[in-house]
Formats: sequence, C-alpha cells, structure tokens
Amino acid sequence: MSEIIALLGYMGSGKSTLGKALATSLKLPFRDLDDQIEAHAGTSIKELFASGGEIAFRKLETQVLTTEVQREQGQVLALGGGTPCYGQNLDILHAAGVKTVYLKLSLVSLLERLKRGRAKRPLIAHLTEEQLEEFIRKHLFERQFYYNQASYVVDVDGLTVEQAVERVARAC
Ligand code: S3P
Repeated sequence: MSEIIALLGYMGSGKSTLGKALATSLKLPFRDLDDQIEAHAGTSIKELFASGGEIAFRKLETQVLTTEVQREQGQVLALGGGTPCYGQNLDILHAAGVKTVYLKLSLVSLLERLKRGRAKRPLIAHLTEEQLEEFIRKHLFERQFYYNQASYVVDVDGLTVEQAVERVARAC
C-alpha cells in the first residue's frame, strides 16, 4: 500500500489548503475527510449536526475515516479538527500505518482565522467574538493532548502555504 499522510490540527489551521498544496508537490491525490463525510451522507456537516447532533456526526466520521485509511492508493487526507480526539480514531490511523502530521498554530493565529471562518463550523458558529477566544483557549488545550500524539508535530505559525508545505514535506 502506498503512503497516506493525514493532516490534523485545530479548526482553521489550514489542513485543507496546505493539504492540497502538499498533495500537488508529492503527486498524490488529496481528500478532505469532511467532504467525504458530506458525500457519504448526502448532506452538509452543518445539517448533520443540526439533524443528528454531534454524536451522530462522530459515528459517521469514524466510519468514513476507516474507509479512507484502507485505500490502496496513497493520498494526503485532511482530517476534521476533532477527528483525532474521539473514540479510536488515532489508533485507526496509526494501526493502518498512516503518517499523521499536526499542523500547529498559536492561539492568536487560530483566533484571527476563526473570527472570519466560524459560520460554517457548527461547534463555534453561535459564539460571539468574546466567547470565541475563551472557547478556543480551553478547547485547544484539551485537544492538544491528542494532536501531540501525531507522528510529526510541525509548527506552521506565520508561514506562507509554500513554506509550510516545504516544512511538512521535510518533516515526513
Ligand atoms: C470539527 C471540525 C470541522 C468539522 C466539524 C467538527 C471539530 O472540520 O469536522 O465541524 O470538531 O473541530 P475543520 O477542522 O476542517 O473545520
């Protein structure tokens, strides 16, 4: 089986943007787990949260992840921000030999990006700017426990997409 590289990190850390550029440079296909979940469910992440709640979403996420790690062809896979933090998902990735890369950004950078990009993200869409900072601070702290179990931790704070791709490619 060829290699699968999975990018993980908090919402807004650039997993999809960077993943696409990394896939191009490594000549691998790119997939976004959220897109795969939406295709599988035939509806949007927002709708999935609204209709079945987060628990239903997480079940589907694990199901689609399990399919993705079994692909014969290599790929760069951008995970959702919560993917490595639930159930057996980290074990599923590592047991399948997937290289996991944590794209690490500072709280300040994430906050800047998420102030603009929160509408499509059900976990934070309802928060005011003031609530957002408090929420991300705590949430990121909890999730870092899982993110830090990635095969590679790459600090991409302040880097351009090109610089970040180079750093990730060099790391793995
Ligand atoms: C989530 C992140 C989202 C998406 C869902 C839940 C999370 O993906 O999977 O809204 O729990 O952090 P992005 O990290 O691509 O925004």
